[in-house]
Amino acid sequence: MPRLHLTLAALSVTARFALVAVAQTTPAVPTPAGVAPITAPPAVTAPAPKLTTEEAAAEREKYVKEVRALIVGHEKEPAEKVFKDIKILKGVPAGRLLAIMNFGYGRSLGVSCTHCHTAGEWDKSDKPQKEIAREMSRLSKAINTDLLPKIANLDSKKPVVNCTTCHRGEVKPALDLPEAPPPRSAAH
Ligand code: HEC
Ligand code: HEC
Repeated sequence: MPRLHLTLAALSVTARFALVAVAQTTPAVPTPAGVAPITAPPAVTAPAPKLTTEEAAAEREKYVKEVRALIVGHEKEPAEKVFKDIKILKGVPAGRLLAIMNFGYGRSLGVSCTHCHTAGEWDKSDKPQKEIAREMSRLSKAINTDLLPKIANLDSKKPVVNCTTCHRGEVKPALDLPEAPPPRSAAH
């Protein structure tokens, strides 16, 4: 336990230094996520090159392994005791938090961990996607606890939505069904 705390404390000190350094050396140019540069095609919301589904899954596994090694023996403890900045997933066992990161968040959106995090600096909220994910969690909860239960005559006794319901492996949920490929004759 003391060793884990030391490691995490050291990480967070490094993170804070890094933050201060960035704040001092770079001009305050906000780069909000989701605002694509003018030259980029409008569908691009993340600056990093898009990984294939398999590449993203492999990278997530790699990072989960790294974090799992840091928390060995503490997997069953509540996330807020093991990690540093837990606001949403309080009470969730630390090991399960990593499964949520991998499948609940990463796979649902079709991204790697670095879509929301700077690798190795997991407690920082330096990428807007991380805070958006927290808001999305609140949104899902509001749908599940306030809105869905008020709809009568649904099939399920306890209907729920989660990240996958909307995202379905994409960063940006679809507003329409994929277009059918044009009929062959239309090409001529
Ligand atoms: C869609 C965004 C998103 C993705 C993708 C994501 N995370 Fe997270 N991560 C979060 C959010 C949000 C929190 C904070 C949860 C809270 O406040 O309860 C978090 C918290 C964490 C923490 C706790 C850090 C601390 O000390 O407070 C770790 C560790 C972590 N993530 C690792 C990962 C790993 C490893 C992956 C990839 C397998 C990953 N995350 C993918 C959004 C994401
Ligand atoms: C009710 C539908 C819905 C649900 C449920 C939902 N989202 Fe979203 N999400 C959206 C919409 C709509 C956007 C905005 C896309 C856009 O920019 O047009 C979005 C955007 C996001 C973004 C920002 C896009 C980016 O650059 O990554 C993140 C991160 C995100 N969602 C994470 C999550 C996570 C994590 C969950 C589950 C806790 C979740 N969402 C659940 C509809 C949803």
